[in-house]
Amino acid sequence: MSADFMPIRGYDHVEFYVGNAKQAAHFYDKTFGFRPVAKLGLETGVRDRASYVMQQGAIRFVFTSALTPDHEITRHCALHGDGVKVIGIDVPDVAQGMREAKARGATVIQPASAFEDEHGVLKTGILRYAGDTVFKLVERSGYRGPFAPGYRAIQPVGQPRPVGLAAIDHMVTNVYLGEMNYWVRWFEQVLGFSQLTHFTDKDISTEYSALMSKVMENGTGKCKFPINEPAEGKKKSQIDEYLDYYWGPGVQHVAMNSADICKTVRELRQRDIDFLRVPDTYYEDLKQRVGKIDEDYDELRELGILVDRDEDGYLLQIFTAPVQDRPTLFFEVIERHGCRGFGQGNFKALFVSLEREQARRGNL
Ligand code: FE2
Repeated sequence: MSADFMPIRGYDHVEFYVGNAKQAAHFYDKTFGFRPVAKLGLETGVRDRASYVMQQGAIRFVFTSALTPDHEITRHCALHGDGVKVIGIDVPDVAQGMREAKARGATVIQPASAFEDEHGVLKTGILRYAGDTVFKLVERSGYRGPFAPGYRAIQPVGQPRPVGLAAIDHMVTNVYLGEMNYWVRWFEQVLGFSQLTHFTDKDISTEYSALMSKVMENGTGKCKFPINEPAEGKKKSQIDEYLDYYWGPGVQHVAMNSADICKTVRELRQRDIDFLRVPDTYYEDLKQRVGKIDEDYDELRELGILVDRDEDGYLLQIFTAPVQDRPTLFFEVIERHGCRGFGQGNFKALFVSLEREQARRGNL
């Protein structure tokens, strides 16, 4: 099987470049329930930046800010605002992975390198991905520290209050019109992924705007990366709005699994996380469309959770509003009951509500 040349264990971490890593860490601690686990910065002898590692379940987020004006991270934030810089994937052998990726046409930003401290050796290699986003291959088997050499473990102030987010389900990238197929081939050739589903603008269109989407998945199905490009519509699509405000391609949303989405969303709402609201009419024919599920329809309506079904089962999902002032990155919470899709049946209802928000921002 062609996936064998790039075995992947799963997601390792996601690193965000942000304007103020200290405040971002606090936000993800107090709202999304992430626990601070490690830090790097002036106190650890690093003079130019600060990073906070936050964890919940198997999800590891890193928030990084620069301390100087003429810095790659500062320029990244000036151009893109806060956003995802690094998609870290866990591989058994970085040297082999980088060798294969390079031979298959990837642009190497950092060749396979070893970083060492008293906890062992961590190996990484970096590949250019869409826009200024990069993929980082991480080999963790020889390392027992809290995150990576240079980081120091930190203890949370106060009791951590997780909300039940367990793992990353998928991460979506927005690219310019005409670029989607380039990145589909990139995933196939460089990382050995294959295409899972294909939505066209017929599936996902409203009166005004539409998008095309292809989902790339690795051999084990652990890593899923949908790629969106805008389709021509009467007005500016939500993907165009993202591209305008991010000033280029980048990660649109990170979806995280919960085993009890009602509990997770109820908790997140209590902590003032804003979610997209679909029109109430969405729930009117939902029971007929989706059939029997374990959850209570009234509770789903109250919390604004969406449901979709395919031949393998059903899924529950909800989307947050953008988590910064620019209408760019947001999050999804998802609970799967067999269904391997991404909520295609919800796209129409979602886009209506997305576009209502877009109109409110004067961008439609
Ligand atoms: Fe999603």
